[in-house]
Amino acid sequence: MTRASSFTILICGLLWALPSPSQQASSRSLPAHHAKAGVHCFDCHQEEKPTKKAVASESCMTCHGDYPAMKAVTKDAKPNPHGSHLGEIPCTECHRQHQPPVVKCLECHEGKFKFHMK
Ligand code: HEC
Ligand code: HEC
Ligand code: HEC
Ligand code: HEC
Repeated sequence: MTRASSFTILICGLLWALPSPSQQASSRSLPAHHAKAGVHCFDCHQEEKPTKKAVASESCMTCHGDYPAMKAVTKDAKPNPHGSHLGEIPCTECHRQHQPPVVKCLECHEGKFKFHMK
């Protein structure tokens, strides 16, 4: 590998790691949280070179706990996004890392529920 190409890869890695200005808005603060906590690419992707392959919920659960645990954490949210009729769907249906989050519930219940999503 040439020095120039490894430099390019290094810079790309840094760009991934830094939240872009638009991601720093409070509703998009998941990357900042994770960057500050030192969460590494591998912790989520389970690959040295992350690809588009879906990130498994098990990665998130290693640190945050499983659905019953998450349901307890957000027990005051009405309705509870971690204890609904959708069951144990992938965490990344709602939480993202490099994009703003989406609350899947609102696809069908638009305007009905209010969440404090980060
Ligand atoms: C290596 C451990 C680790 C992994 C893996 C991880 N997280 Fe985190 N996450 C943290 C830490 C530490 C924080 C910051 C402290 C906190 O707020 O809990 C955080 C913060 C968050 C927050 C913001 C919490 C808040 O205070 O509002 C969300 C949401 C979140 N993580 C979801 C996820 C999801 C979804 C995944 C999987 C795609 C994931 N995390 C993977 C450790 C991890
Ligand atoms: C259907 C969408 C959805 C799915 C799927 C989902 N979440 Fe969440 N999550 C939310 C919403 C909405 C909130 C904010 C709740 C509120 O209003 O307080 C949240 C909050 C959180 C928080 C912050 C809790 C706090 O207050 O400290 C963490 C951490 C988190 N989720 C992790 C996970 C993990 C891990 C999974 C998978 C096991 C997961 N979530 C699956 C929607 C979802
Ligand atoms: C907290 C978990 C988490 C961390 C840490 C994380 N990612 Fe991701 N990554 C995801 C999730 C979830 C997706 C799926 C789409 C999204 O959230 O933006 C993804 C998607 C990707 C993709 C595919 C993009 C596409 O176009 O589909 C690449 C490449 C990637 N991540 C690289 C990285 C690199 C490099 C790092 C470290 C600098 C990193 N990720 C850190 C969770 C994470
Ligand atoms: C694919 C569409 C769809 C999605 C996605 C969806 N729901 Fe529902 N939900 C429904 C339907 C249909 C009903 C039954 C009719 C009604 O009451 O609106 C329902 C009923 C409910 C009810 C009981 C009735 C009420 O309005 O109080 C709650 C609470 C609820 N959903 C919460 C959630 C939560 C939380 C999520 C995300 C984790 C979610 N739903 C995602 C379609 C959906």
